[in-house]
Amino acid sequence: MVGNTGDRDQKRFTLKLISDPSYAVQLAVAKHCAFKDNPLNKTMYPMDDENVSLPWLAERERRAIMEGKSTITVIIDNDDSGADGEKIAAYARWKIPAKFRPENPDYKQRDDEDKQEGGISVGAGSTAALTVAEELDGRKYIEPPLPAGSNVPLVTEFRAALNMLRKTYWNEETEYLLGSLSTDPSYQGQGCGSLLLDWGVRHADANGAAIYLESTPVAQKLYKKFGWKAVDRMELDLGKYGGPNLMHGLTAMRREARSTSSS
Ligand SMILES: CC(C)(COP(=O)(O)OP(=O)(O)OC[C@H]1O[C@@H](n2cnc3c(N)ncnc32)[C@H](O)[C@@H]1OP(=O)(O)O)[C@@H](O)C(=O)NCCC(=O)NCCS
Repeated sequence: MVGNTGDRDQKRFTLKLISDPSYAVQLAVAKHCAFKDNPLNKTMYPMDDENVSLPWLAERERRAIMEGKSTITVIIDNDDSGADGEKIAAYARWKIPAKFRPENPDYKQRDDEDKQEGGISVGAGSTAALTVAEELDGRKYIEPPLPAGSNVPLVTEFRAALNMLRKTYWNEETEYLLGSLSTDPSYQGQGCGSLLLDWGVRHADANGAAIYLESTPVAQKLYKKFGWKAVDRMELDLGKYGGPNLMHGLTAMRREARSTSSS
């Protein structure tokens, strides 16, 4: 299903809602490219082996799609999409309260097909496996096990800090969460991130809902431009976990809803 971005849609780029798990690998690649130089990610997942990290990331994406509680929007580059498939230039994952969540029309039709499908095999070193049937029946999201070589203490601290911030600043019953935003480096600075944010803020504004997120240093300026304000910050001492000797900060930000009648 193609999102209607109206006049704002650039000719080359189309915004699309993703509800089909066959996109999982492309989503993982888009995210991996954007974050591969991020010091936090490099310290959490230091193994320099895409054969291990990409299948794991893809399995996470696939499970998030199957769970049906995330809304995934991507920007497709129409100039680079053809018989080989669509080229995903940028990706955003939102958590939207059920009462506001856009319909995923593919789900109903897909249900029966999916029960016969296998999952993506998670890379070498996985310590547990989950059967696809088990996951689909309950439509539960269960994280795939971390790939071999992950920095478990750092991932644990990072997730605990994230959860603490979310408990404090995000009301999941009534507010949106932007859980992930990434643009393939070869497309950065061409407006793809802004197209994704524009979709999200319009959607949230139409429902009178705030949007919470945690920002990397590089993205803060962009979020401020769209109306987010810093509310808190977490600092991770990467040196303590075997990474570079620096404090890596993530900024918790909120954007309150704006009245759509005046925009
Ligand atoms: C943050 C990010 C998603 C922005 O995506 P994007 O598609 O480049 O965004 P836009 O093209 O809409 O540009 C946004 C702004 O950033 C600037 N920008 C982004 N990437 C740039 C680059 N590589 N070089 C120069 N400027 C860049 C743009 O000039 C623009 O600023 P302006 O409005 O003042 O001109 C992208 O840089 C990214 O994926 N970064 C790595 C992952 C990350 O940190 N994600 C954020 C998670 S919270």
